[in-house]
Amino acid sequence: MARGLLGIEELERPEIEEILDRAVAFQAHGGATFAKVNTSTGKMVVNAFFENSTRTRSSFEIAAKRLGADTLAITASGSSVSKGESLVDTLNTLVAMRPSAIVMRHKASGAPHFLSRYLTTPIVNAGDGTHEHPTQALLDARTILDRCGRLEGLRVTIIGDIQHSRVARSNVHLLSRFGVDIVLCGPPSLLPREMAQIASGVTLEYDMRRAVRGADVIMMLRVQLERIHEPAMQAGEYFRFYGLRQEHIELANPDVIVMHPGPMNRGMEISSEVADSQRSMVLNQVENGVPVRMAVLERVLLQ
Ligand code: CP
Repeated sequence: MARGLLGIEELERPEIEEILDRAVAFQAHGGATFAKVNTSTGKMVVNAFFENSTRTRSSFEIAAKRLGADTLAITASGSSVSKGESLVDTLNTLVAMRPSAIVMRHKASGAPHFLSRYLTTPIVNAGDGTHEHPTQALLDARTILDRCGRLEGLRVTIIGDIQHSRVARSNVHLLSRFGVDIVLCGPPSLLPREMAQIASGVTLEYDMRRAVRGADVIMMLRVQLERIHEPAMQAGEYFRFYGLRQEHIELANPDVIVMHPGPMNRGMEISSEVADSQRSMVLNQVENGVPVRMAVLERVLLQ
């Protein structure tokens, strides 16, 4: 089977390090944009997004073009999926046009894993349901490394809707390989006890003030209202107990950085004061999406 990237769970630490190191070569500096390196000229990348996206979809497209590859974008609403065509038929149709790789986002957990068993074209998972979002975890790690210089020994607190978060799962898999002290925090309805078993080094904390104490990194997660049918808390109540505010920053490590994969619900999981502060890495994360996805695509396209 051709090597794609389905999840962080399948990667060994040296493979993660290789991607993160390679991404450095693609980072932009000063006012420049990302360099065009053309290592993948003649390749074709299909971006098949069956669920909405701004950051992931656009950065995969920029990444492929910066590598010199051609790109084709498919969305659910603009394709024959909206006429009832099955996922397998849609993917087989795309494969018949001989792409070099398919980048895929889908609302069903495991959809890219299922398809990868039948297709010869490598698949890069751009987020599958509540399961994994591997390139988000990689760009998060690159952002932490850029700012903190290391992962080992850091205390990373991830707060919010853990239950529905593919970002949290991929980050836990990645950070646990580097000896990070991982604290998961959220209301009991969104933080199932089994999350502590995903990987070593994970502790659960339901009290936000205790969770942020001594944190080097605070990673906030979006409350995924589209996946919650009966919310246990209204927005105002959620913000009171689990919304990140300046008072929480003062309990953390003095150099703490704040992260959020986006899109943010301001006033629900994070205050604008914190989201727009000097500690916020939100736009650094977005920026690192391009070099990290260049490194991932290059690894897939040049095998
Ligand atoms: N972080 C993230 O996956 O954002 P998008 O949904 O905009 O791609």
